[in-house]
Amino acid sequence: MSKSGSISASVIKRLPRYYRFLGELKKQGVERISSRELSERMKLTASQIRQDLNCFGGFGQQGYGYHVDSLHNEIGKILGVDRNFETILIGAGNLGKAIALHINFETRGCHLTGIFDVNPKLTGQRVGDIAIMHTDEIEKFCHEHSPVVAVLCIPKANTQEIADKLVSLGVKAFWNFSHYDLSIDYEGIIVENVHLGDSLLTLTYGANIVISENEDN
Ligand code: NAI
Repeated sequence: MSKSGSISASVIKRLPRYYRFLGELKKQGVERISSRELSERMKLTASQIRQDLNCFGGFGQQGYGYHVDSLHNEIGKILGVDRNFETILIGAGNLGKAIALHINFETRGCHLTGIFDVNPKLTGQRVGDIAIMHTDEIEKFCHEHSPVVAVLCIPKANTQEIADKLVSLGVKAFWNFSHYDLSIDYEGIIVENVHLGDSLLTLTYGANIVISENEDN
């Protein structure tokens, strides 16, 4: 890996957004963009954008701005979108099915190949073009396919056990929706805990301020 290993966590958090905006510009046929224009669209300051993009080499040129296609590609490489990581999903309930069907894994560096659930009634049911397998099959599947990413859509109580097992089978990265804050004490394992409810609370925090101000006036 290049310089991207030393980029600060806050810049990394913003990279997917840059990637998405630049992808949209690319689709609109925009070839280049100044940091001022990009900042107006993204509601960030131009200096913030320059600082962020300088972290990995600064792709802009004085007086020219950024070349949309190459910046998009470079950020994509840093994000690993061209990696095609073999991915499995555990827990084929409401959330697991929705994620399997509605997240475009392929454009985000992942290739979803296996879906597992402990409920035998679900075995063989299809989610898109993948047939759900029983969790008894995980070990064999991991030996054959060596997945590196696992999406966890199972109840809180079962999460640590399954995560430990998957680590022992070679999984390196967890996209964890289980509401159990997974912190794995193994070196080299990446965890992204996702709580949609936290995002809603960020919204209610903002709404609380706006509505309270209106009430005071
Ligand atoms: P669900 O009950 O529809 O599905 C859970 C599935 O996991 C079931 O099919 C069950 O058989 C399976 N399962 C349970 N233990 C398992 C194990 N050890 N191995 C494999 N499969 C197992 O529940 P739903 O709505 O899909 O939610 C799943 C979890 O995600 C819940 O714990 C829920 O609280 C959480 N959740 C988290 C969100 C977030 O933002 N992080 C948003 C919505 C739900």
